[in-house]
Amino acid sequence: MSKKVCVLPGDGIGPEITAEAVRVLNALNLGFELESALLGGAAVDATGNPYPEATQKLAREADAVLLGAVGGPKWDGLPREQRPERGLLGIRKDLNLFANLRPAILYPELANASSLKPEVVSGLDILIVRELTGDIYFGQPRGIEMRAGERFGFNTMHYTESEIRRIGRVAFEAAQKRGKKVCSVDKMNVLETTQLWRDVMNELVPEYPDVELSHMLVDNAAMQLVRAPKQFDVLVTGNMFGDILSDEASMLTGSIGMLPSASLDARNKGLYEPSHGSAPDIAGKNLANPLATILSAAMLLRYTFALEDAARQVENAVKKVLAQGYRTGDIFEAGTRKVGTREMGDAVLAAL
Ligand code: IPM
Ligand code: MG
Repeated sequence: MSKKVCVLPGDGIGPEITAEAVRVLNALNLGFELESALLGGAAVDATGNPYPEATQKLAREADAVLLGAVGGPKWDGLPREQRPERGLLGIRKDLNLFANLRPAILYPELANASSLKPEVVSGLDILIVRELTGDIYFGQPRGIEMRAGERFGFNTMHYTESEIRRIGRVAFEAAQKRGKKVCSVDKMNVLETTQLWRDVMNELVPEYPDVELSHMLVDNAAMQLVRAPKQFDVLVTGNMFGDILSDEASMLTGSIGMLPSASLDARNKGLYEPSHGSAPDIAGKNLANPLATILSAAMLLRYTFALEDAARQVENAVKKVLAQGYRTGDIFEAGTRKVGTREMGDAVLAAL
C-alpha cells in the first residue's frame, strides 16, 4: 500500500504544531511520503481560494491528510466563500469525510486542568461521532435576502436516511470495540429531520445485538455532559449538534490542546486534525501545545493505515512525556516543567 500523506499546516499555530507531528511520523521510519499544501487563510493569501486546486489534487491523491488549523481575525472580514472555514468545510465535503471521531479522554496527570470535580471526570473516556458532511451546515436553500421589506436569513436542516444509517453504523462499530453503548442525540420533540434520525438509529439495533442504544435530546445531553459525563461511551449526532457537544466534551478534560480528531470516508481515507483552533494570539511564539496534533497522527496510523502498534507507540510516548512532567503553557501547573512547542516535540521523539 502507498503511504501518501498530504500535510496542510494551515494558519496561526498550525505550521508549528504540524511540524512536530511530521517529525514524529518521520521518526517512525514507516516509509510515509509527505507533501505539504495550502489550506485556509494561507491559501487565500496566496491564491484567493481557501481550498485551491493544487491542494484539492494533492488531497484527493493522498491516502490521508494531516491538518493543523485554519482561520484567524485577519480573514474574518472576507466574503463568506473566501473565509478559511470555507476551505475546511470544502475539503470535508470534497473528500466525503462524513464520519468525524472526536475522543474526549482525561489523562490522569491532567486531572486538575478540568473545571469539574475530579470524581466527576476521573477515568473519562468518551467518543463523539459527529456526522460531518450533511445537516444544516450544507443544506440548501440558504442565504440572507430581502423579503417583505426586511432582511431575511435562512438555512435548511436535512438528512437522508442513508446519511443517517452510515454514520449510525460507524458509531455502533466503534462501540463494539469499546464500552458497547451508543447514545444518539437529537431534537425529535421539535425537528422532523431528527425524528427520522432517531427512527433510523432504532432500525440499526438488530444488526448490533451486543450494543445498547439509548436516545437523548440535545439540550439534556448538553446538561448530562457536565453533570455526569461518565455515563456516556459513544455519542452519535448530526453535524451541528456534534460541533457544539464536542467542544463541550473537550473541556471536561480541561485541555483542548490534548484532543485529536479523525474525519473518515467510507474507505478509511481520513483527515486528521487537532480539535482546537488556530490560536492566532500565540502563533509563531513556540507556545502552542503540539500534543493534539501528534495524537491526530496516531489516529492516522490507526484508522487509515491500520498500524495499531505504531499508533500505540505514539500514544504511549505522549503519556510518558506527561508523566515526566513536560507541560506547555495551556496545561502547566506548579511543580511541572514548562516547555515550548519544539521542546515538547523533542520530548515526544525522545520517548519514542
Ligand atoms: C470544528 C469547527 C468547524 C466546524 C468550523 C471552523 C467551520 O468548529 O471543526 O468543530 O464548525 O465544523
Ligand atoms: Mg467546532
